[in-house]
Amino acid sequence: MIIPQSTERVFRPLPQLVIEANVNPQQLARAHAAANQDPLAYWEEAAQELEWFHKWDAVLDDRYAPRFRWFPGAQTNIVHNALDRHITTGVKNKLALIWEGEAGDTRKYTYYEVYREVNKLANALRSLGLGKGDRVVLYLPLVPQAAFAMLAVAKIGAVHCAVFPGFSAKALRTRIQELRPRLVITADGFYRGGRLIALKNAVDEALERGCDFVEGVIVVRRAGLDTPMNESRDLDYDAIVRRERWEAATEVMGSDDPLFILTTSGTTGTPKGILHGHAGYMVGLARTLHWLFDIKPTDIFWCTSDLGWITGHSYVLYGPLIAGTTTVMYEGHPLYPQADRMWDIVDRYGVTILYTTPTVIRMLMRYGDQYPAMHDLSTLRLLASVGEPLGVDAWLWLYKNAGHSRCPLLDTWWQTETGCAMIAPFPVSVLKPGSVHRPLPGISVDIVDEAGHAVDHGTLGRLVITRPWPSMPLDFVRPEDFDAAWQQNAWHTGDLALRDEDGLIHIHGRADDVLNIAGHRLSCAELELALQTHKAVAEAAVVGVPDRIKGEVAKAFVVLTPEFASLEDHGEIIRLLRQHLRKEVGPVAVLRSVVFVESLPRTESGKIARAALKALGEE
Ligand code: PRX
Repeated sequence: MIIPQSTERVFRPLPQLVIEANVNPQQLARAHAAANQDPLAYWEEAAQELEWFHKWDAVLDDRYAPRFRWFPGAQTNIVHNALDRHITTGVKNKLALIWEGEAGDTRKYTYYEVYREVNKLANALRSLGLGKGDRVVLYLPLVPQAAFAMLAVAKIGAVHCAVFPGFSAKALRTRIQELRPRLVITADGFYRGGRLIALKNAVDEALERGCDFVEGVIVVRRAGLDTPMNESRDLDYDAIVRRERWEAATEVMGSDDPLFILTTSGTTGTPKGILHGHAGYMVGLARTLHWLFDIKPTDIFWCTSDLGWITGHSYVLYGPLIAGTTTVMYEGHPLYPQADRMWDIVDRYGVTILYTTPTVIRMLMRYGDQYPAMHDLSTLRLLASVGEPLGVDAWLWLYKNAGHSRCPLLDTWWQTETGCAMIAPFPVSVLKPGSVHRPLPGISVDIVDEAGHAVDHGTLGRLVITRPWPSMPLDFVRPEDFDAAWQQNAWHTGDLALRDEDGLIHIHGRADDVLNIAGHRLSCAELELALQTHKAVAEAAVVGVPDRIKGEVAKAFVVLTPEFASLEDHGEIIRLLRQHLRKEVGPVAVLRSVVFVESLPRTESGKIARAALKALGEE
């Protein structure tokens, strides 16, 4: 066990928690030692806990490294483990999903009910001629049908490609053109922050020209909007599932068949498409649910992410269902109609595990202690955070006000590429706010300098993953993006980190030109390209600047075109640029300020000297 040098800011688990934990400190130490010595045996044991149609010929095939193949020869389908197998056990009649709309409408589904909904949709998709390997873009709000859609697509062996509904029609179009799906599933609209937001029209706009490969658009009627339907292309969700049978065969998938593609921002202007598969991904997930999140049969698990992000895929949907637990989905804004909404949800459903983000925590903290105090939060037993650095103040606030100083708060580090949590404390760990603790058993990381050599404790370096892990990507849509991530025999995460005097890891943000706005990854280049399409902009450079709530927001340096350069009203230009960015990328792209400059500083090779601009931004 770790003996921290300073006891000032460490938090020990309560004895009762240690006694009841799925993995106690001794077991954890043994697992670390065993996994270090023989990682393949460790992961093989994890895989044995799931059901397979056919087991693997080997745990790992490294012949095509760095495209490591986990569980080669195995046959499975993640949906078999997330749904089908539960139907023959006592889990069948347990609540799988508790959904709440922003207006307070609720729906609850048992495992059996989800199973039937998914099978009906799977049959409908098959009737449309879809099957193994076909891509389906999901542009959906957080409604139960979004979960059914992911599972149904996976069940028939097709590949779901979710796009967060906070992306604009333009951003959706870029992704659709890159992914070339046969089908898009969307909704008429949804509720957020008290407003009704239309969605289907963005799909119409995205598909306007040159997307003939999209054969159909399925529309979920969520908001009762009078949505124009294109008769030769659009289908009503309810109408197509209504007549289908509730039994459907689950497609047999090889261990390197893709399950989903998620596009995420890298250093270039074009988002990277990351492919995850059925086998290794589910093994990594199952282990984190049982070990890290300490899942018990009575848990109510609420991860506040949207399904459109990896956190939603892994910890709203697949992870909790594989573990046979009850997952909570809330459609709306965490502050609607007031700042106690989340605590109200925890109270009413008896949420036991709450997994959220630093931005949400900071937002709630700003509204004050009185809101969590309005509700009975005694059911909570575990808190967790992901997506951005969680500062010590926000950590302490949540620990005290939601956890009443008795629930461990786990700051978990991972990314779209890793599929599931990689570095995090366990519920039984001695917690040190500000640190993400150590890699989980079976995961090996290091912090290195530019040449790939390990740096000393206390020195900032690049965070790399030094051994393959089961939930690693199968590949990227553009293989060269994958090759760029494997350098010097390790996976480069793009993050800066250091190890403190206790050997615990602290994440210091990105090492590359990727912004983390409220936990949403956006590349500087994507925002720059979007700004440059405005007629006022000759050149643009974007850097991240710290923000008290969102962690980071964008700041732009803009060289105006001659036509606009003489305009006095810079305020109006800024307003137009903000509006433009919203339209080009979506509301996720929060532009804090714009500085008008004569020219942009460039490096010798002609690249924008962002470090110099960042320094300017901090003045
Ligand atoms: O910079 C790290 C940050 O979020 C990035 C991954 O973003 P994304 O692929 O969108 O996945 C987010 C959720 C898994 C990382 O490269 N990040 C993630 N978790 C943490 C973090 N930064 C600091 N602390 C964390 N716990």
